[in-house]
Amino acid sequence: MSSPGSAAVGADALRDAAAVVADLPPAPAVWCTGLRKRYGKRTAVDGVSLEIARGEVVGLLGPNGAGKTTVIKMLLGLVRPDAGEVMLLGQAATDPASRARVGYLPELFRYQPWLSAAEVLTLHVRLSGAEVSAQEQRDVLALVGLAERTGDRVGGFSKGMQQRLGLAVALVARPEFVVLDEPTSALDPLGRVDVRDIVLDLKSRGIAVLLNSHLIGEVERVCDRVVILDHGRVAASGSLLELLGRHEVRLHLTGLPQAGEARLGQAGRVEREGDWFTVALPVDDETTVPDLIADLVRLGVRVHAVEPGRISLEERLLGILRDGADGEQP
Ligand SMILES: Nc1ncnc2c1ncn2[C@@H]1O[C@H](COP(=O)(O)OP(=O)(O)O)[C@@H](O)[C@H]1O
Ligand SMILES: [Mg+2]
Repeated sequence: MSSPGSAAVGADALRDAAAVVADLPPAPAVWCTGLRKRYGKRTAVDGVSLEIARGEVVGLLGPNGAGKTTVIKMLLGLVRPDAGEVMLLGQAATDPASRARVGYLPELFRYQPWLSAAEVLTLHVRLSGAEVSAQEQRDVLALVGLAERTGDRVGGFSKGMQQRLGLAVALVARPEFVVLDEPTSALDPLGRVDVRDIVLDLKSRGIAVLLNSHLIGEVERVCDRVVILDHGRVAASGSLLELLGRHEVRLHLTGLPQAGEARLGQAGRVEREGDWFTVALPVDDETTVPDLIADLVRLGVRVHAVEPGRISLEERLLGILRDGADGEQP
């Protein structure tokens, strides 16, 4: 039997519980486990699990046919997995409401060619149910570099301009999670820089991004973490630091006194060939290299070249794809 006293305790407990829930970190942008998908006899995705936190920028890499687009479509509830589970912004991805807060640029898309860019955007705003003012819509078109083409029919757009419009569609309804499937495939180098800036801007505003791009350099520049798919499986994943190791520089020097050689040898690896010294040093922070070079110059050492010594993501990716999931880091 409940007394007025216990009802009061119940209300307190409820308030405490509500406070605990309010303090919980928001659900990840996306979380999935054990995703599988077959098309006929072909297994497109073979047991993929991953998680993307709020505000995190994750790159999805892998060769053609690795299953990247299929994974993306399953994460967004657009393709039904044969097995596995997906939570999109804390809701089951099978619930279409979960998609309302997601911006998606599909790999293959076609907009109504008779509509203008502004009309396409307005149509998508209406479909999303979000309140986005006309000014905000113009701002998004300007952001993707279409300010001068808002009234032009999409049918006359180049592939790159259509891709810019696709990006505007993905961004216009103030999404909390943005998924870009090959956003730069048709873009010129200038357009790629725009996409990079847009991704970095999203990140700075705490918006999570999943970026599938074959332009590995782009991924390396903007992503916190990378997931590499091969034959429908995660072949490797981790931060750039985990996948590539620490930053290193290689210095090419002449005129290095013996004492200097010994000291540099404590900090890194020194190789000597005749008068030439090559020194490979880990870079701990942004002062390491300029301070060291200043010291060397003071000692009368001639610094001929400073090269980045870390392997590129591209080299690492090729190594992983060649050697399989257990590929050793060089
Ligand atoms: N709708 C589909 N019907 C049949 N096979 C498909 C379909 N979608 C993808 N596939 C196959 O699944 C595999 C993975 O495709 P996809 O996810 O598009 O790879 P990626 O995006 O990494 O290039 C490929 O072998 C592809 O041919
Ligand atoms: Mg694809």
